[in-house]
Amino acid sequence: MLQKTAFQNFTGLISPHIKRSGLINTFLKAGNVVSGLSSKGIIYGDVGSVTFNILRRLNKETDPKEIAHYLKECKVLFKPAQRLEYGDRTLALHALIRILKPNVVVETGCAWGGSASFLLAALEKNGRGELISIDLPASTVSQAKFMGVNKDQIGALVPEELRKRWKLVTGDARIELPRILAENDADIFIHDSLHTTTHQAFEYITARSLMREGALIVSDDIRWNGAFRSFVQLHNLRGYILVEDKNFGFALNTFDGYEKENGLYR
Ligand SMILES: C[S@@+](CC[C@H](N)C(=O)[O-])C[C@H]1O[C@@H](n2cnc3c(N)ncnc32)[C@H](O)[C@@H]1O
Repeated sequence: MLQKTAFQNFTGLISPHIKRSGLINTFLKAGNVVSGLSSKGIIYGDVGSVTFNILRRLNKETDPKEIAHYLKECKVLFKPAQRLEYGDRTLALHALIRILKPNVVVETGCAWGGSASFLLAALEKNGRGELISIDLPASTVSQAKFMGVNKDQIGALVPEELRKRWKLVTGDARIELPRILAENDADIFIHDSLHTTTHQAFEYITARSLMREGALIVSDDIRWNGAFRSFVQLHNLRGYILVEDKNFGFALNTFDGYEKENGLYR
């Protein structure tokens, strides 16, 4: 849930860097909300400021105009595809992918392939990178009802011309996610599969353990339970939540000195 006090007092919490550089005016002029830091290491902000903050934390000083350009590009890109709904999460992910130019993006939970289509479009615009989607096909009618898609429907929305950068792995994320993250140096991981506390916590920690420092761990449905916030807090990470879509969160993978020396991390 939005930390109201932090958000309401956001002006006092704006990072000195943004204040100094005058970048805040750029975001405000664009009708955006600046960000505020909650007590739990989570930054709440609008799509522009969350994107900007993540990039800055990754030492990618980015001109807000560049971010604005990619947010616009995403809207234009998907205007004709009305059936693919896009929201602020899509805009943020699109801008991040366009600027970070990842080699490997991994998502759990593909369903019809809505999110895969957006991600692949950004990779295609970059002219590099691949998306690996993991989905557990429903094997019974009741399971299909619960999951929403059956085996033949998984990824059906993904346009033919974007499939060359796409690998669909059908199987349980509990088995496939550790294998895929161990075999690939993924830059971005996105959770959108089974939204139980246990499963979400499993995927976040698997991603953290097998991805390098600076990798992005992204999650849908963070309001269903406390797994995302607990994960960020327990590992002392910096988390980001979109004020326009508080069900969607980003965390930056970082390790402390002891973990770097003693953990078997990349
Ligand atoms: C919310 S949908 C994904 C929606 C998709 N990301 C999008 O935005 O278009 C969740 C998907 O997770 C899959 N799923 C559920 N449990 C899973 C598991 N243990 N491993 C892999 N996929 C799973 C379901 O089959 C379903 O297609």
